[in-house]
Formats: sequence, C-alpha cells, structure tokens
Amino acid sequence: MYNEIDWDKIDVTTEPPTEEPARQYYFMAKCREWVKGFEQENGRLPAACIQTFGCQMNARDSEKILGILKCIGYMETGSEDADLVVFNTCTVRENANLKVYGRIGQLKKYKAKNPGMVTMVCGCMMQQKESVEKIKKSYRNVDIIFGTHNIYKFAELLAMKLLDSPDSKKMVIDVWENAMEIVESLPAERKYPFKSGVNIMYGCNNFCSYCIVPYVRGRERSRKPEDIIAEIEGLVKDGVSEVMLLGQNVNSYGKNLEKPVTFTELLEKVERINGLKRIRFMTSHPKDLSDGLIEFMGRSEKLCRHIHLPLQSGSSRLLKIMNRHYTKEDYLLLVDKIKKAVPDIAITTDIITGFPGETEEDFNETLDVIEKACYDNAFTFIYSKRTGTPAASMDGQVPEDVVKERFNRLLEAVHRSTARKAAQYLGKTYDVLVEEVNAQEEGYVTGRTGQNYLVHFKGSKNLIGRIVPVRLCESRGFYYYGELAGD
Ligand code: SAH
Ligand code: SF4
Ligand code: F3S
Repeated sequence: MYNEIDWDKIDVTTEPPTEEPARQYYFMAKCREWVKGFEQENGRLPAACIQTFGCQMNARDSEKILGILKCIGYMETGSEDADLVVFNTCTVRENANLKVYGRIGQLKKYKAKNPGMVTMVCGCMMQQKESVEKIKKSYRNVDIIFGTHNIYKFAELLAMKLLDSPDSKKMVIDVWENAMEIVESLPAERKYPFKSGVNIMYGCNNFCSYCIVPYVRGRERSRKPEDIIAEIEGLVKDGVSEVMLLGQNVNSYGKNLEKPVTFTELLEKVERINGLKRIRFMTSHPKDLSDGLIEFMGRSEKLCRHIHLPLQSGSSRLLKIMNRHYTKEDYLLLVDKIKKAVPDIAITTDIITGFPGETEEDFNETLDVIEKACYDNAFTFIYSKRTGTPAASMDGQVPEDVVKERFNRLLEAVHRSTARKAAQYLGKTYDVLVEEVNAQEEGYVTGRTGQNYLVHFKGSKNLIGRIVPVRLCESRGFYYYGELAGD
C-alpha cells in the first residue's frame, strides 16, 4: 500500500521509470525534495487548496489529488490564498462553467501577493477545447491544465512546473482525448475516516441525448474486481465501515472486463469483506437494473436501503428522444419491484424539465411519476444546452418563463412526496452512522440513516464513526431530529 512507501529508497538522481505507478512515486519523491527546500526557506510547509465543482466522481478525483499532495508534503487548507490551488471542474450544465471562470479570475489577487503560487485547473470542463482556449486567452494566471483521463499523472505535472520551469509564464497543458490504462495503487485521501467512495468504473457509454458526460469522461471502463476488493479491504483495515461504490452507471459494471463480472457478483464479493458494515452505490441506470440485483438488495445485510434511480422525465415519448431506453411503465414497474423486495427503501432521483419539445402533457407525466413513485428526494434540473450533444440541435427549445414555472411545480411535487415519506418514517428507529458533531447545536451530533437521511440527535463526540439506533422524532423536510433509542 502507498502509505508504507519508503521514500528514501526511490532514487531521484536517475531517469524516471516508464512503468506506472512507479513513475508517479518517482515524481512524488522529487516534489518532496522541493517541499524540503520550501520548508527551509519559509519555515512552514506549502499549503494546498482543492475545490471540487462536480459530482461524487469528481469529488473522488479530488481525494486522489489530495492523497498525492499529502504524500508530497503539502498541508491542506480551505483558503484559496494558498501556495497551490486546484479547481476540479464540472461541465454538466452551462452555469457550472460560468462559476469556474469567475472563480479563476478571483485567484489573480492571491497570485499578485504570492508570485510562487501555482494554479491548476482540471476535471470535465477541461476536456472541452473551447474551455481550454478561453483560459489560455483570458486567464493567464493558470499554470497547469489537465483533464479527466490523466489525474494519476498529477505529481509529474506538478514537477514540471515546480522543478523544470518555476519562473516560466508558459502554461503546462496536458489533456488527453481518450482514456489509457487504469493505474492502480496510487494514494487517495478521504473526508471522513470511517467512510469512503470507491470507483468501480469510469466513463459512460449511454449517450443520453442531453448529456455531456460521455464526451468528457470517455467510454466505460471497469476496474478489476480483485483491485476493488483489495482497495476496500485496505480501507476497512484503516477504519472504514461504509463504502459508496461509484460509477456513472454501476449496473453495467464488469461488461468490458476480460473475464466479465456482473455488478451483483461484485456486490456479493464486497458483502463478504469482514469488518465492512455498510455498502452504498451510485448511480443506477434504470435500463440496466437487473432482477438479480433487486433480489440481492432484498437479502443483503450490508446494502443500505437507498437507491438513486434517475428518472429524467416521466414521458415515454421524451425518454425515447433522450435515448434512455425505458418507458414510464418500465420505470414504475421497476420501482414497484424494488419496493416489494426492500421495504422501507428510500428512492431518490434526478429530473430534468425543459428538454427540447417538452409539452405540458409530457411534463404532467413527470408529475404523475413523482406522485406514484413517491420519492424521498429528487435533484431537479432545468435543461441546459450542451454543445456537441444531439439535444443541442433539436427543435423546440422551451421558453425560459415556461421552464421556470414548470420547475417550481416540480419542486412542489417533490416536497409533497418527501412529506408523505416522512409520515412513514416518523416514530421508527433506524441505524445511524454518526458523522460529526453538530456545529450549530451544542451537545448534538449528526449522522445518516441507511436511507441517507441526515439526523441530528443528542450525543457526544465519542459516537463519531459508530453505528447506533436512533428514533426519528421530527421531520424538517430532508433531515430529521431524533433520539438515541434505548435512552
Ligand atoms: N450518470 C448519472 C448522472 C450524471 S449527471 C445518471 O445517468 O444518472 C447528473 C444529472 O445531471 C443527470 O442525471 C441529469 O438529470 C442531469 N443532467 C445531465 N445533463 C444535463 C443537461 N444538459 N441539462 C440539465 N441537466 C442535466
Ligand atoms: Fe449522462 Fe446518461 Fe451517462 Fe448518466 S447515463 S452520465 S445521464 S449519458
Ligand atoms: Fe460534472 Fe463531470 Fe460529474 S461533468 S457531473 S463532474 S462526471
């Protein structure tokens, strides 16, 4: 494992090795030498700030970058007034892009004060040529740009700036169009000591007609089950009791492996890991969710009772144009099967309104599914045109005022559905993994139920990381107040 690396054994006076991950450990060792020099000169370690703009996959990538930075010797800081700032971007909707440009501009003031500061921009937005061009032209304060496929090369890229050309104004730009091999055994940090995300696959093959993700994350690639299991076993040894298996469509895990494995088979292996207490996964595409998985969800002792099942639209007509490969009826049937197999399961979803050509009738079908599926929560989005996707050139873009009005009705429908769910949960006792001391209320801690609801209850900080039974007493929409059961 990486945390047992003997840095003195890496000879940085020779040429770098060509094989991975040895090559990256060589560059980490080189950067460590630089950190020593920095510390001698400044009497402190260099500080690094990583900002994540996107989804769980993006957040996990940030943890990998932080893992490498910690190995190198950087201290983590939440302030952008730092020696190294990394923006890990998202481009799923247009407003995500706009936010990033504004924030890069704001970094200029810190660089003026600290000319040695290194600014890096990476992530999904950097896979798009227009975005890289715009930064090259208007944001010369950026030093290094890289994409989603070469995050593992972070130390090498940083070394190019710190060691080879510290005074050069030239931007280092390294964005790959296609993904290469999956590099295993690199460091990764995590936000909480007791839970962690674990990538099981990268990329997406689905090409939903509105979505940019397949273009910026590349084709689907699954990690080998033995690598995933070894990572989780390592995490458990290190104090982790909950893992979230991550992929854009976990239900199609394993199809492209040399020896194909299904997602359910992978889950069965993960379930057998001693010491692991909870398993989550995200995201499930309804078209690939198998009966085998539903059956496993019913009998598993470790899978949390929560599934995120993106609907996108309730209109079968629109679902076809969205290239989702299921109808409204298929979706509702699936929800019924899941609810039968796993009583008390929480179902959450993603919904888009304003897709090109969406009529009032289509929209009412979406409201109907919300009513029937009775979601615990839904992430609702206004359709955003993404250049290069099929939907961007479709006729019938819906006027802004119509979409806004529909969006409000969508929110109301989701609130009604959440309230109905709360009525079912109140008074019952659920296992809660305690995450942190509640910063707002003294004497309270906060944790999550298997259904993924946040619960605040009276308790001390020595409960953190433990799973305890909590009775839900009061609902505040998407979170609850409860009390330790048995008290
Ligand atoms: N792989 C996941 C979702 C990834 S993107 C899945 O298939 O469920 C997260 C969500 O962003 C999507 O579910 C969708 O609801 C939303 N989204 C994607 N592209 C969008 C666009 N162009 N406009 C608005 N919302 C979008
Ligand atoms: Fe996008 Fe569809 Fe892939 Fe999800 S499944 S990432 S919505 S293309
Ligand atoms: Fe955004 Fe990339 Fe995730 S576009 S939603 S960060 S995969």
